[in-house]
This record gives sequence, structure tokens and C-alpha cells, in this order.
Amino acid sequence: MHKVLAIETSCDETSVSLVSNSGDNYKIHSNIIASQIDDHAKWGGVVPELAARKHLELLPFVLEKALNESKIKVEDVDAIASTVAPGLVGCLRVGSVTARALCYLYSKPFLGIHHLEGHLSSILFSENYPKKTFLTLLVSGGHTELIKVGEKREMYRLGKSFDDAAGEAFDKVGRLLGLGYPGGPAIEKIAKKGDPYKFDLPKCRISDKEGGFLKYDFSFSGLKTAVLRLVEKINLDTCNLPVPDIAASFERVVAEVLVDRTIKCARDHNLDNIVVVGGVAANDTLRKMMISEASKNSIKVNLAPINLCTDNAAMIGAAALFRLKFKEHQSSLKLGVSGRLSIDQATSLYKENPPF
Ligand code: KG4
Ligand code: ZN
Repeated sequence: MHKVLAIETSCDETSVSLVSNSGDNYKIHSNIIASQIDDHAKWGGVVPELAARKHLELLPFVLEKALNESKIKVEDVDAIASTVAPGLVGCLRVGSVTARALCYLYSKPFLGIHHLEGHLSSILFSENYPKKTFLTLLVSGGHTELIKVGEKREMYRLGKSFDDAAGEAFDKVGRLLGLGYPGGPAIEKIAKKGDPYKFDLPKCRISDKEGGFLKYDFSFSGLKTAVLRLVEKINLDTCNLPVPDIAASFERVVAEVLVDRTIKCARDHNLDNIVVVGGVAANDTLRKMMISEASKNSIKVNLAPINLCTDNAAMIGAAALFRLKFKEHQSSLKLGVSGRLSIDQATSLYKENPPF
């Protein structure tokens, strides 16, 4: 059995978790998440400097609580992990420096984790997760990507958003409809009372230089602008904005775009397993649509457990436990943090000479 202490501070959740695995069986012993949503809500989105300061303030208490709840001592873990990229640099630094200081003090190996690998590792806590190569749809506030994941954690990005991430579009449309931050859960709630076919909104695509369109890529900024124009037009004609119908139509279009392109990508690459992770994976319309459309194509779907869709340290710990299978996958204590790093580069975090 391996045990890991993991820290996640890449955006606006301060989280520490203790996790373990015994072969293919992954377990959470504690997963404490201190959300800063209330601190950022009044600004309509995450304020990076404020988030970094909050991590500094909260992390000692979150760490203490996670250790107490798990009844595991730092002395007894096999490694300590933290998210090192991508994310808000000032925020990443707080988690990374804490993890590295603990590694130094307790003589433990350090694993710097790619945040998106963390998200896709949340699936390790679900039943019957795929052991062979699978396709991941990663939909969060910062990323919308289609990633082919191999048995040994070889990761290839097959598609991405060229502008807004799906979660970012939910947040921007939420703000536009006066629903506050974060937009995703608020839109999902009010959309339940609306007609998803009331408004016809665009499914934007990216042109291919060779002609036609890129098949597995995404664009959500045009959809957001279409909602803005719709709201402006309705506000001119009448003062009665049908918020539930707009929210439901927007949510349906986002889900249809994500599901159609993911299934096409899986079929074209002969992948019969799709994994859906990230904050937007908590969306019920997306979850149901993905299961129903995939089954028509004989594709199996694994959805991240709802409580592990948004940022948390347990998923970072799961990524570290998986990496511990490969002895050479340890990070240098000199490894820094980076705001950007493509998922294809995740294994560079375990090189003797760190990439940053
Ligand atoms: O994965 P996450 O916690 O943070 C990033 O790594 O970005 O994702 C946060 C995003 C936000 O944009 C939020 O609006 C969205 O996930 N989200 C949802 C839902 N819950 C969270 N979007 C749609 N439906 C939801 N139920
Ligand atoms: Zn995230």
C-alpha cells in the first residue's frame, strides 16, 4: 500500500488530502477543501492576488485538519505531492513551497503534479475505471480538452478550446444573466425550470487552414456573444428576460457540442472508453447526454464522482499514487511552478533537470 499527502492551490480552492492505494484500489482518507468562492464572488471572478493571499492564510489549518481527519502522520506517507502547473502562479507557489518544505523536513520524495492530470485522476476513485487506453473529456473553468491517455500515463492532446473554456463560458453567461459566480451550478439550477429548445444558439467551430473545420476542437466565445446579443435584443423589446429558457438553451448547446465532438474523436481513434472530468463534468445535462449518446455508439462512459469534479487535493494525490508505480517518476526539489504547461509535457515534471 502507498500513501500520499497532496496539496492543491492552483486557483481558488485551498485543499489538502491524504490518499492511498493498494493495487488498483484507490482510497480517500481525508480531503479538506476550503473554498474561497465567497471572497471572489463580489468581484465576479477569481482575483489572483487575493487568491494567493488566502491560500497562505488557510493552508496551515487545512493541512492540520486533513492530517487529523486521516489519522495518518506525515512520517508515514510515501511521498508528498502538489500541483505545480498550470494555474495562477502566485497560488501554485504557496502549495508547492509547502509541499517541498515538508519533503525536505521529513525526507520524503516530492511529486509535482500537472493540474489536468490531477483532474483525470479523479476517475481512479470511481468503480470500474478504465485500465486500458481511454479518451478524456476535461471540462473545467480554465480548460476544455480531449486527451488520449495511455496505460502508462502517456498523454496526447487531441482537441482543445481555441478561446473560452466551457466552464469560463458558464461563468460569463451566468454573470450576464445576473446569476453570480460561479455560473455553472447557478445556470444548471435555473435551467431546470426552462425550455432547452426555446432559443437556437450557435455551435461554433474552428476553421481548418486546409479547408473545412477542425473536428475535435472547441470555441465558446461566439456562443457567449450570441447570448449577450440575445439578452440585449430581449431587453430592448421587453423588460421580461426569460432567464430559465436562456440558461437551458445555453446549457443544452454546450452539452451537445461537448458530447458530439467527444464521441466523434473516440470513434475516429477507436477508443471505446470515455472519461469525463473537471468542474463542468458535475453538470447533470452533460452527464446524461454523454451516457445516452455513447451507448448508441457502444462506447463506455466513466464520469468523475460529483464531489471530485471541481478542484480538490484528492485527485492530485491519486495522480501521484499512479505515478509512484514508475520509480523514476519523482520531481526535483528544485522544480518551480508554471502558469502554463501542455498536458503532453506532464512527464517533464519528473526529469532530473526540471523544465522550470
Ligand atoms: O475544475 P474546476 O474546479 O476549476 C478549474 O480547474 O478551472 O472548475 C470550475 C468550473 C467553473 O467554471 C464552474 O462554473 C464550472 O466548473 N462548474 C459547472 C458546474 N459546477 C462547476 N459548470 C456547469 N455545471 C455545473 N454543475
Ligand atoms: Zn481544476
